Amino acid sequence: MRTARNFLACSIALALAALVLLTASCVAKPPPDCLACHDDKTAQDSAGKSINVDGKLFHSSIHGSMGCSNCHADIKAFPHPDKIKPVDCKSCHADEAAGLVGSVHSNEAEHPCTSCHGDAHQIVPKTDPRSAVYPLNVPKTCGKCHGDNGMAEKHGLAKVFPKYIDSIHGYALDKEGLLVAANCQSCHGSHHILSRKDPLSPTNKINIPKTCGSCHAGIDAEYALGIHSKALAKGNTNAPVCTDCHTAHEILHPTDSEFRMQSTPICGSCHKEMLSTYHDTFHSQLGALGGYVETARCWDCHGAHDIRPTADPLSPVNPANLIATCGKCHSGANASFVKYQPHANAYNRTLSPGLYFVRLFMNILLISVLSFFMLHTILWLVRARYNQIKHKDQNGGK
Ligand code: HEC
Ligand code: HEC
Ligand code: HEC
Ligand code: HEC
Ligand code: HEC
Ligand code: HEC
Ligand code: HEC
Ligand code: HEC
Ligand code: HEC
Ligand code: HEC
Ligand code: HEC
Repeated sequence: MRTARNFLACSIALALAALVLLTASCVAKPPPDCLACHDDKTAQDSAGKSINVDGKLFHSSIHGSMGCSNCHADIKAFPHPDKIKPVDCKSCHADEAAGLVGSVHSNEAEHPCTSCHGDAHQIVPKTDPRSAVYPLNVPKTCGKCHGDNGMAEKHGLAKVFPKYIDSIHGYALDKEGLLVAANCQSCHGSHHILSRKDPLSPTNKINIPKTCGSCHAGIDAEYALGIHSKALAKGNTNAPVCTDCHTAHEILHPTDSEFRMQSTPICGSCHKEMLSTYHDTFHSQLGALGGYVETARCWDCHGAHDIRPTADPLSPVNPANLIATCGKCHSGANASFVKYQPHANAYNRTLSPGLYFVRLFMNILLISVLSFFMLHTILWLVRARYNQIKHKDQNGGK
C-alpha cells in the first residue's frame, strides 16, 4: 500500500518536473550547468591542467550566489570555447584595482588579485578565519613571496617573513592569536602599498610615528613631546623614529636582555661622544662584564620616548631632578652623590671640572718634569764637552 502511494506521488512529481522543464526550454534555453562538468575532481583541460571547481566551496564563498558567467563574462554560447579570456575583477571592484595602480605590486601579471586572495572560487569575507586576508593569515599570505625562496627575494628584497614571525607582533599574532597585533597590512596597507622611499608611504621615516601610533597612541603622544620628535618636525631626518630604536620587523620585548644590551649602542650610534664618555663610567663597565647585568643604561636616566635636553626642567637629568632619577636605583642618593659624572669627560671643564683640573695638573706636571730633564741632559752634555776640551788643552793637545 505504502509503496504504491509513494510511487504515485513520485510519478506526479516527475511529471510536474518534466512539465516545468519543458515550458522552461520552450521559453529560453536552460543555462548550462557549468558544475556538471567542472565539479568533477578529475576534470582536466587538454594540457592536463585541472579545471575542477569545488561546487560546495564555491557556493559557500562570497561570490557563491553569482553565476559563473558573472566573472567568466565572455562565455555567452555553449559549448564554450577552449580558450576563455582571463577574469576581470575590476569590473566590480574598481577601488581595489585602482589602489594597485602605482603600488609596488602594480605588475598585473606577477600580482593578480588571486596572488593575495587565493583561489577565486573560494573567496570569503576578510572577517572569516578561512580568508587569506583574515588578520591572522595575512603574514603567511604576504610571506609566500616575502619569505624563503619567495618571488621578492629574486627582486633583491630582504626576506621579511622569518624576521617578522619571531618578533613581538608575530609571536602575539601567530602564537597567541591576538587579532589586534600588527600584521603586514597594519603597517603597509593592502592594495596601495608604497615603497618606504615614497613620502606618502606609511613606512616612510616621517610617517612612522603615526603608523605605529595608530595602535601605540600613548607612546606616540609621549614621543611627540621629546627632542627627537621636535628635531624631526624641523626637518632633521637624523633624529630617530620608532623603528630606529625598535626595528620594523624584529621588534623585541623591551624588557628582553637582548633589547637592553643592544639599545645602548643604538643610542650611541648617533650620540658617539656620549657613548664613549658613558663607557668610561662604572655603569657601563658593570654592563660590559659579560653576560647581562642590570645597570643604568641611557634611557634609565634620560627616558626612552620624551627625551629632553638637560636644560629642560622636565628632563630627568636636569640638576633639579637628579636625586629622584638616581634615587630610582640608589636609595639614599643625595646632592653630593649626584655630583658623580655619568659621562666622565676629562676634556670638558664645565661638565667635569674635577676630572678636568686633575687631568690638567697631571699634564702640566708631566711636561715640566720632561722639560726639566731634557734641559738638564743638554746642559750636562755641554758641560762634559767643555771639560773634555779644557782637559785636552791642559795636556798640550795630546
Ligand atoms: C560539457 C562539459 C562542460 C561544461 C558544461 C562547461 N565546461 Fe568549461 N570546460 C570544459 C572542458 C572540457 C574544458 C577544458 C578545455 C580545454 O581542453 O582547454 C573547460 C574549460 C573551462 C575553462 C578554462 C578555460 C581555460 O582557458 O583554461 C573555464 C574558465 C570554463 N571551462 C568555464 C566554464 C563555465 C563558466 C561554464 C558554464 C557556463 C562551463 N565551463 C561549462 C567542459 C565544460
Ligand atoms: C569571482 C569570479 C569568479 C567566479 C564567480 C567564477 N570564477 Fe572561475 N575563475 C575565476 C578566476 C579569477 C580564474 C583564474 C583564471 C582567470 O583569471 O581567468 C578562474 C578559473 C576558472 C577555471 C580554470 C581552472 C582554474 O581553476 O584555474 C574554471 C574551469 C572555472 N574558473 C570555472 C568556473 C565555474 C564552473 C564557475 C561557477 C561555478 C566559476 N568559475 C565562477 C573567477 C571566477
Ligand atoms: C598584495 C596583496 C593583495 C592584492 C594583490 C590584492 N588584495 Fe585585496 N586585499 C588584500 C588585503 C590584505 C585585504 C584586507 C584589507 C583589510 O583587512 O582591510 C584585502 C581586501 C580586499 C577586499 C575587501 C575590501 C574591504 O574593505 O572590505 C576586496 C573587495 C579586495 N581586497 C579585492 C581585491 C581585488 C579585486 C584585487 C585585484 C584587483 C585585490 N584585492 C588584490 C590584499 C591584496
Ligand atoms: C560581478 C561582480 C564581481 C566580480 C567580477 C568579482 N566580485 Fe568580488 N564581490 C562581489 C560582490 C557583490 C561581493 C560581496 C559584496 C560585499 O560584501 O562587499 C564581493 C566580495 C568580494 C570580496 C570580499 C570582501 C570582504 O567583505 O572581505 C573579495 C576579497 C572579492 N570580492 C574579491 C574578488 C576578486 C579577487 C575577484 C576576481 C577574481 C572578484 N572579487 C570578482 C562582486 C564581484
Ligand atoms: C605574489 C608575490 C607577492 C605577494 C603575495 C606579496 N608581495 Fe610584496 N612584493 C613582491 C615583489 C616581487 C615585490 C618587488 C616589486 C618590484 O620591485 O617590482 C614586492 C614589493 C613589496 C614591497 C616594497 C619593497 C620596497 O621597498 O621596494 C612591500 C613593502 C611589499 N611588497 C609588501 C607586501 C605585503 C605587505 C604583502 C601582503 C599584503 C605582499 N607584499 C604580498 C611580491 C609579493
Ligand atoms: C610594525 C610595522 C610593520 C609590520 C608589522 C611589517 N612591516 Fe614591513 N616595513 C615596515 C617599515 C617601517 C619598513 C621600512 C623599512 C624599515 O624601516 O626598516 C618596512 C619595510 C618592508 C619591506 C621592504 C624591505 C626592503 O628590503 O626594503 C618589505 C618587503 C616589507 N616591509 C614587507 C613586510 C611583510 C611581508 C610583512 C609581514 C610579514 C611586514 N612587512 C610587516 C613596517 C612593518
Ligand atoms: C595594529 C596595531 C599595532 C601597530 C600598527 C603596531 N603595534 Fe606594536 N604592538 C601591538 C600589540 C597588540 C602589541 C602587544 C603584543 C603582546 O604584548 O603580546 C604590541 C607590542 C609592541 C611592543 C612590545 C611592547 C611590550 O611591552 O611588550 C613594541 C616595542 C612595539 N609593539 C613597537 C611597535 C612599533 C615600533 C610599531 C611601528 C613600527 C608598532 N609597534 C606598530 C600592536 C601594534
Ligand atoms: C630613541 C629610541 C626610541 C624611540 C625613538 C622609540 N622608542 Fe620605544 N622604547 C625605547 C626603549 C629604550 C624602551 C624601553 C624602555 C624601558 O624599558 O624603560 C622602549 C619601550 C617601548 C615600548 C614598551 C612600553 C614601555 O614604555 O616600556 C613600546 C610599546 C614602544 N617603546 C613603542 C615605541 C613607539 C610606537 C615609538 C614611536 C612613536 C617608539 N617606541 C620610539 C626606545 C625608543
Ligand atoms: C638616529 C640617531 C639617534 C638615535 C638612535 C638617538 N638619538 Fe638622541 N638625538 C638625535 C638627534 C638628531 C638629536 C637632536 C639634536 C638637536 O636637535 O639638537 C638628539 C637629541 C638628544 C638629546 C638632547 C641633546 C641636546 O643636545 O639637547 C638627548 C639627551 C638624546 N638625544 C638622548 C638619546 C638617547 C638616550 C637615545 C637612546 C634611547 C638616543 N638619543 C637615540 C639623534 C639620535
Ligand atoms: C646614570 C645616568 C646616565 C646614563 C646611564 C646616561 N646619561 Fe646621558 N646624561 C646624564 C646626565 C646627568 C647628563 C647631564 C650632565 C652631563 O652632561 O654630564 C647627561 C647628558 C647627556 C647628553 C647631553 C644632553 C644635553 O642637553 O646636552 C646626551 C646627548 C646624553 N647624555 C646621551 C646619553 C647616551 C646616548 C647614553 C647611553 C650611551 C647616556 N646618555 C647615558 C645621565 C646619564
Ligand atoms: C637603573 C638603575 C640605576 C640608575 C638610574 C643609576 N644607577 Fe648608578 N649604579 C647602578 C648599579 C646597578 C650600580 C652598581 C651596583 C652598586 O654599586 O650599587 C651603580 C653604580 C654607581 C656608582 C658606583 C658605585 C657606588 O655605589 O658608589 C655610582 C657613583 C653611581 N652608580 C652613580 C649614579 C648616579 C649619579 C646616577 C644618576 C645620574 C645613577 N647612578 C643612576 C644602577 C643605577
